[in-house]
Amino acid sequence: MTLSIEAFLTEKRALVEQALGRLLPPEEKPPSSVHRAMRYTLMLPGKRLRALVLLASGGMLRAPEERLVPAACQVEMVHAASLILDDLPCMDGATLRRGVPANHLVFGEATAILAAFALLNRAYGIGPEEGTGGEWEPQVAARVAGMLAGAVGTEGLIGGQSSDLESTGTPLDFEALEYIHSHKTGSLFIAAAEIGGFLGDAGDREMEALHRYAKNLGLAFQITDDLLDATGSPQTTGKDCGLDQRKTTFVAFAGLEGARRLADELIDASRLALEPLGEKAATLASLAENVRFRVR
Ligand code: IPE
Ligand code: IPE
Ligand code: MG
Ligand code: MG
Ligand code: MG
Repeated sequence: MTLSIEAFLTEKRALVEQALGRLLPPEEKPPSSVHRAMRYTLMLPGKRLRALVLLASGGMLRAPEERLVPAACQVEMVHAASLILDDLPCMDGATLRRGVPANHLVFGEATAILAAFALLNRAYGIGPEEGTGGEWEPQVAARVAGMLAGAVGTEGLIGGQSSDLESTGTPLDFEALEYIHSHKTGSLFIAAAEIGGFLGDAGDREMEALHRYAKNLGLAFQITDDLLDATGSPQTTGKDCGLDQRKTTFVAFAGLEGARRLADELIDASRLALEPLGEKAATLASLAENVRFRVR
């Protein structure tokens, strides 16, 4: 039986959050300040969208949840690490994350940086644990780590973040903007969908469909993020708004209406990419609609 999207969101978020809590080192254990800082950002109520994309991709292919949840946690840990770093004064200089003060404002910059490294490190430690006595064969752990490393590295998220920061204050053309968005944000969406596919033994056609879905969705997600920076409020987004004013975002490039249209077209394209998968991709399609209408 397929869950309604509301039931899917509630059930799977709870599942991921329980597992995240279990997989993190206890706060009282030294170095307590780093452990507290890791838990602080990771356990705040994020949308868990990348984890949900992974669970929906693998779930559609009937991969057991015990196989999918550790990977969903890896993706959420890497994502939380990227948020802590992104908020630092040397990067976006943000003050608010997930509705509360950013990590470095609570724990100090040094501990925030260590917590980000520790989250990344913990994420990569989960794979080998699952591969020895857990739910994965050892070669599965290696492949998932490779997929994640590719998505976060200089050819993925770090590449996008680097261009984003280097080009702050300079006008960008469409191609440069697309590069930044699809790397800083799109790469992790693609990895989430493909890791779900891999754990569900997706065939080539299924993998290709998941890739196209996530590529379009990731880009749409960042455009809606830029729209919310321009039009939302900290009360609803849980983040500082108006921080992107020195950046060329899609909103700066195409205007509010142009960016909205582009996001809608990309969400349509992400849904179209699911067509070869038929009915079983209904949850992925609903997640795309959630991105279209999101207010946070
Ligand atoms: C924020 O991601 C960073 C971007 C790539 C725009 P989310 O909007 O998914 O943040 P959380 O996980 O819900 O806090
Ligand atoms: C950052 O994009 C994407 C990351 C890799 C963290 P943004 O800088 O727009 O993300 P927010 O708005 O701070 O969440
Ligand atoms: Mg940023
Ligand atoms: Mg930011
Ligand atoms: Mg933003």
